[in-house]
Amino acid sequence: MTTPIAENERETILVFDTTLRDGEQSPGASMTIEEKIKVAEVLEELGVDIIEAGFPIASEGDFEAVREIAKRVKKSVVCGLARANFEDIDRAGEALKPAERKRIHTFIATSPIHMRYKLRMSPEEVLERVRASVERARRWTDDVEWSGEDASRSDRDFLCRCIETAIAAGATTVNIPDTVGYAYPEEFADLIRYIRNNVPNIDKAVISVHCHNDLGLAVANSLRAIEAGARQVECTINGIGERAGNAALEEIVMAIRTRSDILPFRTNIDTTRIMKASRLVSAVTGFPVQPNKAIVGANAFAHESGIHQDGVLKHAQTYEIMRPEDVGLTRSSLVLGKHSGRHAFRRKLEELGYHLGDNALNEAFRRFKALADRKKNVYDEDIIALVDEEIQSLEQRVHLTDLAVETGLGRAPHARVELEVDGERQVAESTGDGPVDATFRAIRGAVPHEAELQLFQIHAVTGGTDAQAQVTVRLARDGQVFHGQAADTDTLVAAAKAYVSALDKLLRYRERIPAQGAVQASL
Ligand code: KIV
Ligand code: ZN
Repeated sequence: MTTPIAENERETILVFDTTLRDGEQSPGASMTIEEKIKVAEVLEELGVDIIEAGFPIASEGDFEAVREIAKRVKKSVVCGLARANFEDIDRAGEALKPAERKRIHTFIATSPIHMRYKLRMSPEEVLERVRASVERARRWTDDVEWSGEDASRSDRDFLCRCIETAIAAGATTVNIPDTVGYAYPEEFADLIRYIRNNVPNIDKAVISVHCHNDLGLAVANSLRAIEAGARQVECTINGIGERAGNAALEEIVMAIRTRSDILPFRTNIDTTRIMKASRLVSAVTGFPVQPNKAIVGANAFAHESGIHQDGVLKHAQTYEIMRPEDVGLTRSSLVLGKHSGRHAFRRKLEELGYHLGDNALNEAFRRFKALADRKKNVYDEDIIALVDEEIQSLEQRVHLTDLAVETGLGRAPHARVELEVDGERQVAESTGDGPVDATFRAIRGAVPHEAELQLFQIHAVTGGTDAQAQVTVRLARDGQVFHGQAADTDTLVAAAKAYVSALDKLLRYRERIPAQGAVQASL
């Protein structure tokens, strides 16, 4: 039997989170600057070592988001992505200027197929670019990461020459991406070992891995790479990212923690904050987490079968390899109802990780009481939905103040909405193809705008016919998308509030970037 390795003797695996860059590249997952800042703050609280905040050359919005995050984040390193050219690198350097700790991440493809068809460059030209780009990035910061895009399909010896060149030019981290999610765990581990054995200056840099999930192997590949010598993992919350996504942060971190018997490592992640980060990323991207998703899915700690329930009640470890508390879930059986008082409500909020000021607490309590009148049992999920909405509505300029919908067999649905926009009352009515359509048309009447409705999604927050409906709405305008989310026992009220929340984000975006369109009159 092996002796367990003490926590302080374990090597640290650096967690590089790319939710705000690769994650945001998922179709439909784009976030507003305010949302990106919130996510960055939660990632910092979570203990992420490096936050890849964006790709500054990609757009004004990306540049601004990286710069704002660079101003606010103090503990984590803030990173910006750049292709291997001076314009990209300088733009990243500019955006990162305010950061206390900054990194430029520059990349170029190294596989034959990418060099030939995409870059139209010879291997020697690519090598020269590696040198020049890393040297340029070093003018801005000592912390430079170099990536060989499509590394897993590159010629190993050529890849090793690129890595050696990057390190000689000043790269302190070398990243090995499995860009197309093609690698197989043992093969990927072997590539990492090959690099360690064949790059003469490899001891001067940290080896990082960045795995995509096209074959569902991103986490397995990352873990095998760690065993083979990688000391940084690139990952995203909920595994969002290009195509099938990136390796999921929560899965890697919990695997390292739970299988500490075979993985003698640690991370700086405070795992009790995982659920909060997962919920936030799901809310701002409009990507629901599948119920059976490892670690953060609604069923990840739910035991349905009688045999399992009986086992867990007798001794949790019969069927639980992780404790729900370790990822930020409560095991508490404190279910609130209409007789619960302010004290129980406040205690529940604290258990769920919310610390509200007096005004917000009063308002949340009022809404909780209203909900408890309509719903027998108010579960944690209901309270999380309610409080998240309360926090969000404090920032909103547009509020739904009234909604009346008439619908029925053989009659045209009709909706009347009353909104408050910057304190001014706006009322409009409309018919529609269905009650939701009538409601959304009426909102358009009250605040005229041309945004396209791209997503309307409903799911039940808990079970039962009195469950709250959680609605997600995505509006798009000029290539920018805005998500709104709201929950209510009345699906139409939730739909209207979710639409208003997305509209509010559009309004605020237009106010900040007015050059692209007139404010308010025609959003
Ligand atoms: O998947 C990939 O290769 C990337 C690089 C930019 C690191 O995202
Ligand atoms: Zn990627």
